[in-house]
Amino acid sequence: MQNVQGFSKDFLWGGAIAANQAEGAYDADGKGLSTADMVPYFDKKDYVNLKELMHVTSDSIQKAMAHSSAEGYPKRYGIDFYHRFKEDIALFAELGLKVFRLSINWPRIFPNGDDLTPNEEGLRFYDEVFDELRKNNIEPLVTLSHYEMPMNLVLNYGGWAGREVIEHFVRYADTVMNRYKDKVKYWLTFNEINTTIIEPFTGGGIVEDRVDNVMQASYQALHHQFVASSAVTKLAREINPEFKIGCMLARMIHYPATSKPEDVLQAQIDNQLNLLHTDVQVRGSYPPYMARYWAEHGVSVHMEPGDLDMLKQHTVDFISFSYYTSLVSAVNPEEYGVTGGNLYSTIRNPNLPRTEWGWQLDPIGLRVALKEMYDRYQLPLFVVENGLGARDTVEADGSIQDDYRIDYFRQHIQQMKEAVKDGVDLMGYTSWGVIDIISASTSEMSKRYGFIYVDQDDHGKGTLNRYKKKSFGWYQKVIASNGEDL
Ligand code: BG6
Repeated sequence: MQNVQGFSKDFLWGGAIAANQAEGAYDADGKGLSTADMVPYFDKKDYVNLKELMHVTSDSIQKAMAHSSAEGYPKRYGIDFYHRFKEDIALFAELGLKVFRLSINWPRIFPNGDDLTPNEEGLRFYDEVFDELRKNNIEPLVTLSHYEMPMNLVLNYGGWAGREVIEHFVRYADTVMNRYKDKVKYWLTFNEINTTIIEPFTGGGIVEDRVDNVMQASYQALHHQFVASSAVTKLAREINPEFKIGCMLARMIHYPATSKPEDVLQAQIDNQLNLLHTDVQVRGSYPPYMARYWAEHGVSVHMEPGDLDMLKQHTVDFISFSYYTSLVSAVNPEEYGVTGGNLYSTIRNPNLPRTEWGWQLDPIGLRVALKEMYDRYQLPLFVVENGLGARDTVEADGSIQDDYRIDYFRQHIQQMKEAVKDGVDLMGYTSWGVIDIISASTSEMSKRYGFIYVDQDDHGKGTLNRYKKKSFGWYQKVIASNGEDL
């Protein structure tokens, strides 16, 4: 039985980052180019249509490939975690993190993706990172693929729409899982696997102007990712039976705009399209509702013999997800205002406050999401992303008074605690961007998530010095009290 009092005593309090938003060193020590290295900094006129603004095309890729410096491409320089990870891990230890979520930058290990032997220098880097974490009693939680596909696989295989990519991904996973089998226990296969449908380049390495039918290519790519994820889960259990393998969904919980049955039905459809991913990775088969959806949208996913069996046999041990906001569904969306997200936009919910970037703040939605997912799957859950992107000001005395961030976390953790009391089996929580990093969607530095401030602006200027924000002391206290002192 769950502890009705609150978080379990071995609750994994932590923080998260992704390689492409933090490491920098985009071409150091043999690393190949990744999808993230293709996205330039651009001026934001509005945050509602970001997806259109950040659109990656054949032309923009050509330009990016010819651009042989990090200037103007913030994810290429990140926050220099590649050279400063010891200093950063020392701060994470001081914060009291029990777990640190990071990703391995795939093209650091296999620069072209289809190489047959790995890049030793890339492997050495993660050895050092994991050793430093272990030395500080911090458990690594590793994402194998967090928007960092090698560009060669995009250009020459059609991204994840190409079946051969499964084999290359499995070779990569085999390499790192064997290498780090005594250093890493918790693994996630794909970050926010549903991004492949929402933003096919970021999630699936699909260049939209290179395919005839984007939706068809995206669902085909998603199928390949499902099969790859199961193949890696199978392999992981052979490499080390102690490993725990999770899937990772951007949980986009949809509320109906009104109590009109049409809106309720629309919200149900939107929720199903989101939960499709966990349905496959947890239950081991495509849910029945997808057949009609695909037929009505002219999508026909090619499956090889053995694929469905692979999905059935090798499901995950736990479910991880990101939660930032709730969304709204309506049959007549044009009747409502629109607001921003990162790779999506949604209908305005008049009951919720919004951030400068248009994200609607809904702590109760996290409790709803946790309860609903536990009801549906009854598998341990792990919140691996949650946080507030906000502009911070450094005061004259050098302090950063981010009370808004403390409020945000307090409310979300409070709701998470309620969900645990409601009986949800929750393993842990890693706040997003535990240290300020480059934004995934806008490539801004000024959209900050961290408890640790990094002195760098949107154009890469600054000392890169790290400073503790007010929220640092607050989160430290939360962890030390196992979530009691909020
Ligand atoms: C998630 C991604 O969607 O949202 C992260 O997994 C990302 O990589 C986070 O950083 C916040 O989004 P953004 O665009 O504000 O950085």
